[in-house]
Amino acid sequence: ESTLGAAAAQSGRYFGVAIAANRLSDSTYATIANREFNSVTAENEMKIDATQPQRGQFNFAAADRVYNWAVQNGKEVRGHTLAWHSQQPGWMQSLSGSALRQAMIDHINGVMAHYKGKIAQWDVVNEAFADGSSGARRDSNLQRTGNDWIEVAFRAARAADPSAKLCYNDYNVENWTWAKTQAMYNMVRDFKQRGVPIDCVGFQSHFNSGSPYNANFRTTLQNFAALGVDVAVTELDIQGASSTTYANVVNDCLAVSRCLGITVWGVRDSDSWRAGDTPLLFNNDGSKKPAYTAVLNAL
Ligand code: XIL
Repeated sequence: ESTLGAAAAQSGRYFGVAIAANRLSDSTYATIANREFNSVTAENEMKIDATQPQRGQFNFAAADRVYNWAVQNGKEVRGHTLAWHSQQPGWMQSLSGSALRQAMIDHINGVMAHYKGKIAQWDVVNEAFADGSSGARRDSNLQRTGNDWIEVAFRAARAADPSAKLCYNDYNVENWTWAKTQAMYNMVRDFKQRGVPIDCVGFQSHFNSGSPYNANFRTTLQNFAALGVDVAVTELDIQGASSTTYANVVNDCLAVSRCLGITVWGVRDSDSWRAGDTPLLFNNDGSKKPAYTAVLNAL
């Protein structure tokens, strides 16, 4: 196959990309994105601050620019993200307790209603666990509404759009030996045992010197899949873009039948949120990097 999306489709998977609405007018960017990828995540446009800037006033203008571009070009869409401690609008940052809990539910209902039946996977909850060795939840205004906030979010999401796969998404959870990975595993196991509606786990996979790729990522994916959830690589970028590491991630996903696909977090290095790490598959001029060829050959 000659593109990442077509190559991934040979095994029933997708190869996706994070899209920024304001870059779609860049023809080099749009040409590569349309040619190579068959799944799209909005890099920022479906987040809470973008979709509900004032309480009760939803704005889907930028989100719909990404969504419509994706669908008009035949791609599926990952929704990102409904409940998160970061990129909250000011009005939400200032809420707490039962008012914040209700605002979270209202937000899930408002955004999922707008896209009902149109989103393949929703990242319902993002980044709820703390880094380091504690295995604890991250302290946040949402966590302080009560430990059950995550399952409440998933139950609301299932009711709002029964057709979407509902994912929990996090970073630094790729290494099986890390406490954060174990904490996330215990939560998913508990949710499956108690019937909390969760369908998938997203592994952001922002690999760098502080949190490098480890070969036990495949074990992690297999162990989560064995709980009865799908898994996905949702925000892949690799500091330095090692061809070997990119190929390893592809091979890990391909080794797990419940791995739905891989999304890279941007098109060219210059589009990356960590541009200084040159972590992506395309050079700033749009040419393919060695890591691109390594990924294509591995798929
Ligand atoms: C990042 C975007 O890439 C940046 O443009 C933005 O300034 C901050 O957020 N984990 C996530 C993503 O789930 O939403 C983040 O995206 C990167 C880390």
